Amino acid sequence: MPAKKADSAAASKISTAPTGDASQPRASGKTYQHPHALPSYLDADHLGPWGIYLKQVDRVTPYLGHLARWVETLKRPKRALIVDIPIELDSGEVAHFEGYRVQHNLSRGPGKGGVRFHQDVTLSEVMALSAWMSVKNAAVNVPYGGAKGGVRIDPRKYSKNELEKVARRYTSEIGLIIGPTKDIPAPDVNTNEQVMAWMMDTYSMNVGSTATGVVTGKPIELGGSLGRREATGRGVFTVGVEAAKLIGLPIDGTRVAVQGFGNVGGTAAKLFGEAGAKVVAVQDHTGSIHRASGLDVEALLRHVQEHGGVGGFAEAEVIDKDAFWEVDCDILIPAALEGQINKDNAGKIKARMVIEGANGPTTPTADDILQDRGVLVLPDVIANAGGVTVSYFEWVQDFSSFFWTEDEINQRLVKIMKEAFHSIWQVAQQHKVSLRTATFIVACSRILQARELRGLYP
Ligand SMILES: NC(=O)c1ccc[n+]([C@@H]2O[C@H](COP(=O)([O-])OP(=O)(O)OC[C@H]3O[C@@H](n4cnc5c(N)ncnc54)[C@H](O)[C@@H]3O)[C@@H](O)[C@H]2O)c1
Repeated sequence: MPAKKADSAAASKISTAPTGDASQPRASGKTYQHPHALPSYLDADHLGPWGIYLKQVDRVTPYLGHLARWVETLKRPKRALIVDIPIELDSGEVAHFEGYRVQHNLSRGPGKGGVRFHQDVTLSEVMALSAWMSVKNAAVNVPYGGAKGGVRIDPRKYSKNELEKVARRYTSEIGLIIGPTKDIPAPDVNTNEQVMAWMMDTYSMNVGSTATGVVTGKPIELGGSLGRREATGRGVFTVGVEAAKLIGLPIDGTRVAVQGFGNVGGTAAKLFGEAGAKVVAVQDHTGSIHRASGLDVEALLRHVQEHGGVGGFAEAEVIDKDAFWEVDCDILIPAALEGQINKDNAGKIKARMVIEGANGPTTPTADDILQDRGVLVLPDVIANAGGVTVSYFEWVQDFSSFFWTEDEINQRLVKIMKEAFHSIWQVAQQHKVSLRTATFIVACSRILQARELRGLYP
């Protein structure tokens, strides 16, 4: 079959990355060796997610040419703020939470990145996420640096009233460094439009005027953007279609499996379904379902809205959690959590292409396994950049107080995603590296070029 030939030819081109492929650190089991003294707040033996990021930078450095001179810039966050968030609980007790805002790099513009409420948030994690935002924003060429925030709290254990106090005090504390022209937070894990509304209100009360541009992902009624909710899934779909064309995979009739049927996974599944693909398997926190002839995506979306998950959907067979990864499919979209594709299941995946809707869904070891098997991986740093792209549109609309139609927003989003993807594809072909490394080459070059042009102050 000619399409299959074209596919394997393209996939093998992509999979011929040199062993020094930056974004796929080989699991050596050795402690990361930093060439210079680490910042004092880092423990060389417990670098966590920041350690993975540092390896990615080290491996991309040979491709940076004369800009490699500036590479240390990428290995140190510009600024990291740790704040104490004391609140009075509904019970009358006083509780303290730890909060962070890290601005990794501001060479290309103000910081941009979400705020996560999670009990496992650490400084290392927020540092890495902020650095990946620098990469993502530069990859799609939106004029932002990278930032991220987090509060170490399990939000399920607190009332809405308590969470509002946390969001407000956190915003007040990081108010020193955020602002519409300084750093613009957005929702991330366990934060939503309501949290953004509280953050916007708190910042506005502190500065004395309504500042809608201080956060994105706001409710439409408060300067939010049409199309923002679906933007990440639409971006996943857009780059997926472009990559499929390049490897000779027709979307009509192609079989798609999706993990996570929330904002990102649900939207991506809907768009693939509308384009003629068959969504054959879905997994979420309530179960895993399969239907070889294709699930009714619209009916499944309604079911999830009513029941909170895919579990109990009648027109499908229930499959085992692990069997999901072995389902016969052409495209696999992880759109749930980090680390889902790992050394245990990467060898069993049948898809020809993985589109990373989630942040960090593939462990570095699994990345190597997929690459060795010729599976094309569209990495998170480009595949899920649709969300921040429409956040950028939201920010622009807030500044001008002039709001665009949903069609205009979607057209501009698709244009940016396609252009970004094709330039990354070219770089991957040119250097014979994975798309992840190619994205890092494009993005890190842009960041360091800005650094060089600006020069050092003083
Ligand atoms: N929403 C955005 O704009 C955006 C942008 C970039 C990246 N992301 C990333 O995409 C991922 C999903 O975000 P979202 O906004 O769709 O979240 P969401 O809360 O809307 O959906 C999450 C989905 O994951 C599923 N899930 C949770 N735990 C699971 C488990 N153990 N096994 C299988 N499925 C599980 C949930 O059931 C749900 O269907 C996250 O990694 C997020 O960081 C989101």
